[in-house]
Amino acid sequence: MDYKIRTKIRQIVIEEMVPLDTAVTILGLVRTTRVGKEVAFVEVNDGSCMQNIQAVIAEPKEHPVMEKILTGASVRIRGKLILSQGKGQKYEIAVDTIDLIGAADDTYPLQKKRHSFEFLREIAHLRPRTNTFGAVNRIRSKLAYAIHKYYQERGFYYIHTPLISASDCEGAGDLFHVSAFDLKNIPLKDGEIDWDSDFFGTETYLAVSGQLEAELLAAALGDVYTFGPTFRAENSNTSRHASEFWMIEPEMAWAEQEDNMDLAEDFVKFLFRYALEECSEEMDFFAKWIDKEARGTLEGVVAAEFERITYTEAIKVLQSSGEKFEYPVKWGLELQTEHERYLTERTFQKPVIVYDYPEEIKAFYMRLNDDGKTVRAMDVLVPRVGEIIGGSQREERYEVLLERMKKKGVTNLDAYYWFLDIRRYGTMPHAGFGLGFDRALMYITGIANIRDVLPFPRVPRWAKF
Ligand code: 4AD
Repeated sequence: MDYKIRTKIRQIVIEEMVPLDTAVTILGLVRTTRVGKEVAFVEVNDGSCMQNIQAVIAEPKEHPVMEKILTGASVRIRGKLILSQGKGQKYEIAVDTIDLIGAADDTYPLQKKRHSFEFLREIAHLRPRTNTFGAVNRIRSKLAYAIHKYYQERGFYYIHTPLISASDCEGAGDLFHVSAFDLKNIPLKDGEIDWDSDFFGTETYLAVSGQLEAELLAAALGDVYTFGPTFRAENSNTSRHASEFWMIEPEMAWAEQEDNMDLAEDFVKFLFRYALEECSEEMDFFAKWIDKEARGTLEGVVAAEFERITYTEAIKVLQSSGEKFEYPVKWGLELQTEHERYLTERTFQKPVIVYDYPEEIKAFYMRLNDDGKTVRAMDVLVPRVGEIIGGSQREERYEVLLERMKKKGVTNLDAYYWFLDIRRYGTMPHAGFGLGFDRALMYITGIANIRDVLPFPRVPRWAKF
């Protein structure tokens, strides 16, 4: 069988490039069947788009295979493309032959009804076949393309930073070790693990971020970006945290805090506009089934001028709000999601960029302000989700960086000599940020749990499939 002669359903129903009365071959999975005496209907989906195509079989008695074709089976249908006589679809296939390729019996878990997200997570090997996860996976692909388009068209180079790293970029210690040791027999030296005898001759981890290496490449190439998976072993069992998630990290040489905020705002708007304009099939689906406001929310962000306020101002706003928060609001403490959401949803009712955070609560690489108390960090907060972007202008002054690393308790300074070196040789102001791709997708689709925008989520106690 020459599978290349197949017609994809998208070519028929979306691109409308197949003339009526043409002979077509459809390959796909059966969603439903209805078999009557005179006529039978088989709805098929081939994953190329949301819509199914209906195959109409006159004289079902002449196709005994119909008895074995149940929901979930894979089939080959050959027939003629015609205008549908029924309601609900424009085209259908008048079937000449239908062949069962792979049977599915009545234990197939995706029978025609709505399943809960919790149930579908348990069958993540089959859930891509549902409408919701088809739409999620297709929009992931389209927006991944949009990200490359955005940066490539603006002269940023796509760089590849290592996934195995000997440093802890965020200094938060939420790291997965990478080791080739026999776990039952880990070599010790003076009572400590002897990393020197491990595969890389040093302690190594899965990278929490590509930023430190992106800074090296920005210092050489100018504007760069990474787009890849990152790993965090934080034991936060929330709907917004995954242990493996995708991050986009642009890094710009010759840029300061203001430039960083401008890029973040422009990039978020571009991505949301792209979803609205180029992913309408998926967006219509999300607006119908997941979140009625899905489009309106994105349109609001695209049209808004993001509010920009300092952390110090944000604390004042929260303190004078009269709102009872679960976590304390005090200068020097982290903003919690409830605070972030209050700022975007209640105070400003639009995205907010909070910048100039206290030095104590932010990573060592952020540039110290002249007040000696705050650093040039900036977080982009959006309604419903809270933080989707975290970034900063970087500390480009060698002495100041060294001091901050010591103060922050970076004990293995020797391991960071390369990061310090770019401050010793031809340093320059530079800045960048990280956008959590999965959090952005939650926002765009209206899906409330990060486990449902990742095809195969990794979260505490869950690495199945
Ligand atoms: O604020 P974060 O930790 O920043 C960095 O990693 C910097 N190195 C980025 C940079 O400046 N180049 O993370 C950035 C974003 C967050 O705003 C959030 O959207 C997402 O990554 N993120 C997570 N997404 C899902 N699950 C998690 N556990 C996440 N942790 C962070």
